Amino acid sequence: MHERIIRQIRRLILELVAKSGFLCSVYYAFRSGSFRREHRGVLYGGLKHLKEARDPSAYRYILRRNIHLLEKGLLMRTRRDAFALDYIEETVACYTRTFEFGRASPELVSELELQWASDVLARYFEVAGPHPTVDRLRDRFGAVRATAPKRGPTAVPYARGDAVPSPVEYENLLELARRRRSVRWFLEKPVPREMIDRALAVAALSPSACNLQPFEFRVFDDPELTQMITAIPTGTGGFGHNIPAIVVLIGQLHAWFGEEDRHLIYIDASLATMAFLFALETQGLSSCCLNWPDLKPQECKMTGLLGLDPGERVIMLIALGYPDPQGLVAYSQKKPLSELRSFNNTG
Ligand SMILES: Cc1cc2nc3c(=O)[nH]c(=O)nc-3n(C[C@H](O)[C@H](O)[C@H](O)COP(=O)(O)O)c2cc1C
Repeated sequence: MHERIIRQIRRLILELVAKSGFLCSVYYAFRSGSFRREHRGVLYGGLKHLKEARDPSAYRYILRRNIHLLEKGLLMRTRRDAFALDYIEETVACYTRTFEFGRASPELVSELELQWASDVLARYFEVAGPHPTVDRLRDRFGAVRATAPKRGPTAVPYARGDAVPSPVEYENLLELARRRRSVRWFLEKPVPREMIDRALAVAALSPSACNLQPFEFRVFDDPELTQMITAIPTGTGGFGHNIPAIVVLIGQLHAWFGEEDRHLIYIDASLATMAFLFALETQGLSSCCLNWPDLKPQECKMTGLLGLDPGERVIMLIALGYPDPQGLVAYSQKKPLSELRSFNNTG
């Protein structure tokens, strides 16, 4: 009886509050602190983004985004003579300082990424203009590029081509997807790091908003550390002790400035995860994603153990290893196509 009254009061409150975004904010301000960590993470990430705009060791997101925008400008079918005028100065400055920084600390700057930036900028200055801003920056950029070593093929937009058929047949992919199931029982056998790296090489090719790739796979294969990590989330009860390796997938909120993009860490990291899982499976390794609930005790433990800042959010964990052939796997029937999709928003 008592329970029923409480539930009814709760329903009435929610009915009232759910009518407006403002009331929801008031509700959460007083009723629950659930969103506080996310709010702090988003603001902290935005602040870090602004600070990094002045830090050549940390420009990567700004450079990546701007070079991505330039590539999009270059591949437009009706390309404008002068585009990117509002960010080309920032891009050249960012490239120049990253280049100089890379000379002093080569281990902190990806050569391939710098070459991509350089090649795209070079192509931009080949085709853009005339315009006073473009012309002024062309020489400045040219002087830096002239001193840059050239490695590998030119990294600029290229014609897609249609001659090469897909190397993977649909049936193979379907079979791989059927074979990948969440596995919770693993053999007591170390996972070779090269296999994890090979799977990550596939994951790295996943799409991400503005190609920012705002995530990091922190892999643990040391038995003691693995057990410490495995014990933190809530969803490993009963099988956590037999997990030979675990990934903590971290989203980096400082890839953007604004809160409107806060969801992208989850999308981008999840897309990479799916590719990672498939790539593990092709090598005979299995996996199980593990939920990361936004709960204070768990957040505190993980943040402390991994040394995360508030803008680095755990997205999920991924247990992996050689599957135990005797271990049972849930059947996990999938929903039918009729529930999965609609065309033109009709039933
Ligand atoms: C984001 C996410 C969180 C998950 N969390 C857990 C978890 O905490 N514990 C667990 O045993 N399985 C977890 N799973 C695995 C799901 O239970 C599993 O994917 C689902 O039942 C479908 O089964 P399948 O992966 O074999 O297709 C998680 C999966 C995802 C994608």
